[in-house]
Amino acid sequence: MDAYEIAVIPGDGIGPEVVDAALPLVADAAEEAGFSFETTRFDWGTERYLDRGEMMPDDGLDRLSAFDSIFLGAVGHPEVPDHVTLHGLLLPIRKGFDQYVCKRPNVLFEGIESPLRGYGSGDIDFVVYRENTEGEYASVGGREHRGFDHETAVQSALFTRRGTERIVRAAFEAAAAREGHLTSVTKSNAQAHSMVFWDDVVEEVATEFPSVEVERLLVDAAAMDLIRRPHEFDVLVASNLFGDILTDVGAQITGSMGLAPSGNVHPDESSPSMFEPVHGSAPDIVGEGVANPLATVLSWSMLFEELGETRAADALWTGVTDQLADDDAPRTPDIGGTAGTDDVVADLRSRL
Ligand code: NAD
Ligand code: IPM
Ligand code: MN
Repeated sequence: MDAYEIAVIPGDGIGPEVVDAALPLVADAAEEAGFSFETTRFDWGTERYLDRGEMMPDDGLDRLSAFDSIFLGAVGHPEVPDHVTLHGLLLPIRKGFDQYVCKRPNVLFEGIESPLRGYGSGDIDFVVYRENTEGEYASVGGREHRGFDHETAVQSALFTRRGTERIVRAAFEAAAAREGHLTSVTKSNAQAHSMVFWDDVVEEVATEFPSVEVERLLVDAAAMDLIRRPHEFDVLVASNLFGDILTDVGAQITGSMGLAPSGNVHPDESSPSMFEPVHGSAPDIVGEGVANPLATVLSWSMLFEELGETRAADALWTGVTDQLADDDAPRTPDIGGTAGTDDVVADLRSRL
């Protein structure tokens, strides 16, 4: 059988720490499940930018296009403005490969303490479908008259019918396959163009999914309700920015940024999808060897799932679940332990 070809971009900060720690483990999981993959490492990121003035080469996307999938660590560096680094590497990949479904599961695992009182194992289990190619991230706008009193900055959000329908439909499909509950998050009380349009699309697509119960929430209320009643959510669908914000809330109520995985999915095989932990480069802990590698491991599980390698995907997900449920297992400081990145991965390898 052919090996999969996977591009690995460790990136900045703790990105290389968690990516390199997890690679031998995920290779074990593949071997155990009877397949293999080759990785090609791309040392693209801010070190390259500081050296050569670019985050990735001009033909970066071309070079990635032949791969079955992409794994990314994190992007962001204290010495370079974030809009430069993110628009130089992460965002062009999501957009260039039309990875329009950003899938972000939030699960409260056994053994993890939620900051929310009374919430225990399994009480929180929802997935956010974040629109990933347009909306507030469309880069439509400009800045004029710098330094003058009448300086103006415009940043428009772009919502197309194609872009909105496809993420909404993907979320309905997910809800139909899960608990049948979809929450659409907007701000249509204030944003009467884009968000009322979004509401209309939700209403239209809903007719294709009579089994799915639809709830609408304004984003401010959604932020509150993720804290007040997270057990009631199943699938949430939101615009690019709202999905970004809500998934940090989701990560925190389920224990840590260090446990939150994500997939940037282009659903057919014409372009590769990209998987990455939700967290960033975490400059506050870089080099300490304590970054939690589990968001990375769970993101690899999502990558294998997307490739149809369910056995390896399940082995990784179950390995993490079992480890977290085990009081004696090593854990990193973000989830209450004292262990390092490598100890956590070594323990996981012994469980596979
Ligand atoms: P961050 O996710 O890097 O860190 C937020 C907090 O969570 C920090 O206290 C950090 O120590 C902690 N944390 C994150 N990941 C952790 C892990 N695996 N284990 C333990 N603790 C972890 O967010 P930030 O501080 O807002 O951003 C830092 C940089 O990362 C910025 O440059 C930002 O633009 C960038 N960023 C990149 C991505 C990405 O590449 N996808 C995502 C978010 C932020
Ligand atoms: C994320 C990050 C990125 C986003 C940033 C770094 C551009 O916060 O993946 O959640 O907003 O998508
Ligand atoms: Mn984010």
